[in-house]
Amino acid sequence: MANVNDVLAAVQHQLHRAGIDSPTAEAAIIVSHVLEVTRGKLGVMRALGEDIAEDSAARIEQLARARATRVPLQHLTGETTFYGVDLKVEPGVFIPRVETEILVETTLQHFEGGTGQLKMLDLCTGSGAIAAALADQFTQRARATRTWAIDVDPDAVKLAQHNTRHYNVSVLCADATDTEAIVAADPTLADQLGSFDVVVSNPPYIPTATPVTQPEAEQDPHVALYGGSPDGLAVPQQIAAVAAEWLAPGGFFMMEHDHTHAAEIADALHKNPLWHQVETVQDLTGTQRFVSAVRA
Ligand SMILES: C[S@@+](CC[C@H](N)C(=O)[O-])C[C@H]1O[C@@H](n2cnc3c(N)ncnc32)[C@H](O)[C@@H]1O
Repeated sequence: MANVNDVLAAVQHQLHRAGIDSPTAEAAIIVSHVLEVTRGKLGVMRALGEDIAEDSAARIEQLARARATRVPLQHLTGETTFYGVDLKVEPGVFIPRVETEILVETTLQHFEGGTGQLKMLDLCTGSGAIAAALADQFTQRARATRTWAIDVDPDAVKLAQHNTRHYNVSVLCADATDTEAIVAADPTLADQLGSFDVVVSNPPYIPTATPVTQPEAEQDPHVALYGGSPDGLAVPQQIAAVAAEWLAPGGFFMMEHDHTHAAEIADALHKNPLWHQVETVQDLTGTQRFVSAVRA
């Protein structure tokens, strides 16, 4: 038997030495994951100085060792939470980032106080995080939703299908920059161009030459990171063009982008008569990370 406080302290120390930003929080996540208890229950176990079984302690040590080599925490636990929704996470599919929650928050604010069903499109859906979070939040606000979520990667599509299974979401495998390809994946969409209330996207946008600085991000697939051209703008620009095709007049568009693209993307939308109310939106660190606009 090993004391829970000693185990936690050892994991914290190991993660701290490995340069992990939040060793205390991550140690608690690893230990509560292995023990299959909530963090609240772990707090109680700590206060009581409880012991844990040898096999659990060994499993915790194994996960801590892997984390110290910078395997993403979410790959070790197989899960993450995005805007209050529990999601399955798998190697080979982009791990949803907390920064992207502002995209959900801003979209919800835009529709605050409204009524009626919302038809939504999530381009480059990855794990389905944005589609699931928006559907979940609108449901909590008593608004029905019908969503299509698109990704080009079959592994992402499979995962997004799982993560959005409780909501009214069709996940399609298609190139999100190609409207014809989207319609080919679901012919019922053929007569729905110009009828959507919401188009959201967190597309790949990193310029080709920009190295990934976080060791964990090296585990994200390249197709999820790099924006399809040396400046990283190709996919985001095509996504904006596709969004304009699907949105109804007055429909809301929001897209995450590289902070170096903020002025260029906002200028392009400002100059385009298809868009009104173009705004650059910051994330919680003050980084210019999103553009939002309303279809004219
Ligand atoms: C940055 S990840 C974002 C995933 C998810 N929206 C999120 O915020 O967690 C970008 C996603 O776009 C997908 N993708 C890249 N190019 C695409 C394209 N042309 N059409 C559809 N999906 C694409 C990748 O497979 C990846 O899942």
